Amino acid sequence: MVLRTLDDMDLAGRTVLVRVDINVPVAAGRVTDATRIAAIVPTVRDILARGGRPVLLAHFDRPGGRRVPAMSLAVTLPALRAALGVPVRLAPDCVGPEARTAVAAMAAGEVLLLENTRFHPGEEANDPAFAAALAALGEIYVNDAFAAAHRAHASTAALARLLPACAGRLMAAELAALEAALGAPERPLVAVVGGAKVSTKLDLLANLLARVDHLVIGGAMANTFLLAAGREVGRSRAEPDMAGTARAITARAAAGGVALHLPVDVVVADALAPGVAVRTVAADACPAGAMILDVGPATVTALAAVIAGCRTLIWNGPLGAFETPPFDAGTTALARHVARLGREGRLRSVAGGGDTVAALNHAGVAADFGYVSTAGGAFLEWMEGRELPGVAALAG
Ligand code: 3PG
Repeated sequence: MVLRTLDDMDLAGRTVLVRVDINVPVAAGRVTDATRIAAIVPTVRDILARGGRPVLLAHFDRPGGRRVPAMSLAVTLPALRAALGVPVRLAPDCVGPEARTAVAAMAAGEVLLLENTRFHPGEEANDPAFAAALAALGEIYVNDAFAAAHRAHASTAALARLLPACAGRLMAAELAALEAALGAPERPLVAVVGGAKVSTKLDLLANLLARVDHLVIGGAMANTFLLAAGREVGRSRAEPDMAGTARAITARAAAGGVALHLPVDVVVADALAPGVAVRTVAADACPAGAMILDVGPATVTALAAVIAGCRTLIWNGPLGAFETPPFDAGTTALARHVARLGREGRLRSVAGGGDTVAALNHAGVAADFGYVSTAGGAFLEWMEGRELPGVAALAG
């Protein structure tokens, strides 16, 4: 799929509606992680440099179609101004007279942010009338919100068909990185999938089985696979009712020539709490009263060797309960190994999904990873092989 990009558009003097994803984490009225804001800078700067007038469309949180003052995009303004280095004003609404007045009042070199699109029910309903009200504010539409591309909403889908439309720099970079990892990867290709539940990652595992050479399963998900193989998992988090599914996935991997890697040793404790006493045991020797909370060092060594033999890696989900040290050790060690191989030019790596990025940041390697997606749900849906409405709409 070849999408139009900013390079194909004449932006001079045009009002450019830019859909961005600045749905960033906030605590005590401040943005705690501005990664998504930094990621839109190339697009906005490019529009400004070429004489365009960038008007940002964005959602924040899930206000459910009502004006919820606590979910105003105002909280993002200081971080946006710092990242862009130009004046950024917030219009009190994203459609209607207030939005029109704010667009008309824009000075050259300035950025306008329109208030949360999800304050209107038409946004999530992908309502054509609401999309038309958005379209009336600009002349060109740029979608730079890969992280929201799995939502068929008015500002991500319907609007793209109402104005000359293209992908922004971030959207194009995300799609190129993802295509290089799963579309036409250099092989061998390994996927590392962690997280809690098999049940929420079934489509993902099915799609990966058809594409990868190695599949590494970690996190609490691995416990279900160990359980399915008849191993003792004690009080570990697992889904006994998914054991049959785990066995079917194991059989499919074997039939398809995909090497499935489960932990060979695990770190166990009596509780998930900081400073708790931990033990490392073989993966089939979890004591009845204990919980598996991380992969062990022998697993890290084995996985490091598998990964060293691969050319491309795709990672979604931590291998252990990384938020609670010392159960971050497995994820951190393997992430550092991946980053090192990347630096040496031996491995192309792509990571994505909310917890994954937090785990890589925690390991201090996010900057060294080949590509870290800004997307959570959209990355997962893309990995599942699903069409993303926000991308499909750009394709026409
Ligand atoms: C995200 O944070 O993953 C995107 O902004 C989408 O948010 P949503 O899950 O509320 O649609």
